[in-house]
Amino acid sequence: MPGTVVVGAQWGDEGKGKITDLLAEKADVVARFQGGNNAGHTIVRDGEEFKLHLIPSGILYEAKTCVIGNGVVIDPHILFGELEALRARGIGGDNLRISGNAHLIMPYHLLLDGANEQQLGKFKIGTTGRGIGPCYVDKYTRIGIRVQDLLDEKILRRKIKTALQEKYFLLQRYDIGVLDPDQVADELLSFRERMEPFICDASLLVNTALDQGKHVLFEGVQGALLDIDFGTYPFVTSSNPISGAACTGIGVGPTRIDHVIGVAKTYTTRVGEGPFPTELFDETGVAMCEVGQEFGTTTGRQRRCGWLDLVALRYAVRLSGVTHLALTKLDVLSGLPTLKACTRYKAGRKVLDEFPLRQTDFHHAKPIYEELPGWTEDIRECEAWQDLPQAARDYVQYIAEFTKTRVKFIAVGPGRDETIVLPRSIGRGGAL
Ligand code: GDP
Ligand code: IMO
Ligand code: MG
Repeated sequence: MPGTVVVGAQWGDEGKGKITDLLAEKADVVARFQGGNNAGHTIVRDGEEFKLHLIPSGILYEAKTCVIGNGVVIDPHILFGELEALRARGIGGDNLRISGNAHLIMPYHLLLDGANEQQLGKFKIGTTGRGIGPCYVDKYTRIGIRVQDLLDEKILRRKIKTALQEKYFLLQRYDIGVLDPDQVADELLSFRERMEPFICDASLLVNTALDQGKHVLFEGVQGALLDIDFGTYPFVTSSNPISGAACTGIGVGPTRIDHVIGVAKTYTTRVGEGPFPTELFDETGVAMCEVGQEFGTTTGRQRRCGWLDLVALRYAVRLSGVTHLALTKLDVLSGLPTLKACTRYKAGRKVLDEFPLRQTDFHHAKPIYEELPGWTEDIRECEAWQDLPQAARDYVQYIAEFTKTRVKFIAVGPGRDETIVLPRSIGRGGAL
């Protein structure tokens, strides 16, 4: 697996942290390429739980290099808070490297994120409130503050002044008042000494590792349906969580990617606002939430739950060129007499086989379901494909066939060992 990308194939929280942690064992470098601390990745190891928002999931292995790429937006408070929390648990974090080109989330980004949501009222996106959108906006209007700016105080002060000038009217309009550029700069500069040893040329580091035949795991956050270009716009995040962003978010060419692991739950969840055709409002949805412990890792919000949407999953597979699927939380479905999987949508009089191009069609889409038998057995102890009940195997096989993608991993519990690694092909696809 020289260059392997892990991406979410739904609306986030698919279990990427767990799968990345599992794959990281065989990797030399783990590199994050987009998003920020809107992400929340949970890793459970020997009963101990770690929740990471910004630092790559590979940090738990001290021998691996962990990289935060240029495509990531960094809140320094969160970065050092997370590092301190890890150190308190005996994880040094000295193996972390941060791209000098990554953008910094500034205090005004946080204020604007909240104000924008308030302004949108009932049309709000339900963001995580972490300043992600406003930070990417500044990046693309070219008034962002980058990690490397910390190394040049004069330039940093000037850049902050420029960025704040632009925000002056907005902040006043939202009754937030004005921020003092020097105060903002002083606060940021207080991180300089701690940040400096981590700053690197992440593209050079990762490409050199690949040249040396090392294994690099590119860790995505969020999921394809939250993609700024291809997701359920405007109810999306402000970056590209699809696999292509691994190239632009680190600085490697597409020829360096060998495998793409798409992580998907065996049902669907979503946090925040936006359309969700297979959402359940009945006792099955409540059961999924309770059994699956579906509460957001970052904001603690209850996740909306529903049946597996195979049209959306096949779309995500296409967008990221997924070579292997990792299906998670199969254990949560135990005990449901019948499972439903959405294989088409009905929007008005139209029947849609593919994820619709038009936003309105998706907002009106009603799921057309295929029903499959459920199973009653507790499957958390299952260690191999053959241990799973026939109905569970049929369900997985159905997903593989519908998406025309090989299933490589099946997670049957949050723990690291609660994962079935499939030795032979379930569905199509090459060796990993
Ligand atoms: P991520 O954002 O994609 O890394 O996912 P999160 O960590 O936000 O949410 C996934 C949640 O499901 C976490 O609490 C995991 O510990 C948990 N989890 C992952 N895989 C499984 C599984 O197979 N079964 C169960 N029951 N929980 C799982
Ligand atoms: P992980 O990596 C689930 C959602 C928010 C909101 C929308 C925009 O843990 O899978 P933002 O703060 O990014 O501007 O919010 O995106 N969202 C996530 N939902 N998992 C995530 O990350 C998410 N990151 C953002 O809830 O609907
Ligand atoms: Mg999460």
